[in-house]
Amino acid sequence: MTTATSSKTDRYAAAKLVLSRIAHPVAIIGAADGDERSCSTGTVMYVSHSPAMVAIAQHPGSRTTRLIQASREFSVSLLHDAQQELAMAAGRSADGADKFAALNIPVATQPFTKTPAVDGSIAMLWCRVIDERPTGDHILFVGELIGSVVNDRKFDALLRYRRRYMRMGHWTSEEAPEGYPT
Ligand SMILES: Cc1cc2nc3c(=O)[nH]c(=O)nc-3n(C[C@H](O)[C@H](O)[C@H](O)COP(=O)(O)O)c2cc1C
Repeated sequence: MTTATSSKTDRYAAAKLVLSRIAHPVAIIGAADGDERSCSTGTVMYVSHSPAMVAIAQHPGSRTTRLIQASREFSVSLLHDAQQELAMAAGRSADGADKFAALNIPVATQPFTKTPAVDGSIAMLWCRVIDERPTGDHILFVGELIGSVVNDRKFDALLRYRRRYMRMGHWTSEEAPEGYPT
C-alpha cells in the first residue's frame, strides 16, 4: 500500500498517486473569441442528463480558459485511440491567433456557434457556460449542451490512466442496464 499527500517537495504527489487512478476520457476543449481560436487537452464528466450538462476543469492561465470566459461557450471533442497525437499537440501552447491552424488540428464547425471542435472525434459537444467557479488550482465550468454530433463509426475511446494514454478495453456486459440513461 502506498499513501501520499501533497507536500512542499512535490505539491502534485497526491495527484500523481491517486488522482491518476481515476480513468478519464481524453477530450479536447475548444473555444473562440473574435479572430482567436484555441483548444487544450482536458477531460470531461456529465453532471446532468436533462437538461444535458457537462463539467470541465481549466487552468486559470490558459488561453482556452480566457476564450471560454470571453465567449461563455466551449466545445468538447471526445477522442479515440487514433487521435493521441492530437491530444499531445493540444496539450502544448502554440503561437498565432488560431491554435487549430497552427497545429493542423482538423476543425468541425456548426452554424449556431463560432466555437470550433475537433473533426473526426467520437463525439463533439457544444456548450454554453451556465456556471463557473474556482476549484483549487483550476476553474470549474459547467456547460449546458446547445448542440452535438456523434460519429457512428465504432471507435475505442482514448483514456488517461496512471499518467499515460490507453485505449478502452472490452465490454464486460452485453446489455444496456435499465434505470440509467447513459
Ligand atoms: C492528458 C492531458 C490532460 C490535460 N488536462 C487538462 C485539464 O483538465 N485542464 C487544463 O486546464 N489543462 C489540462 N491539460 C493541459 C492543457 O492541455 C495545456 O495547458 C494546454 O497547453 C493549454 O493550451 P492553451 O494555453 O493554448 O489554452 C492537460 C494536458 C494533457 C496532456
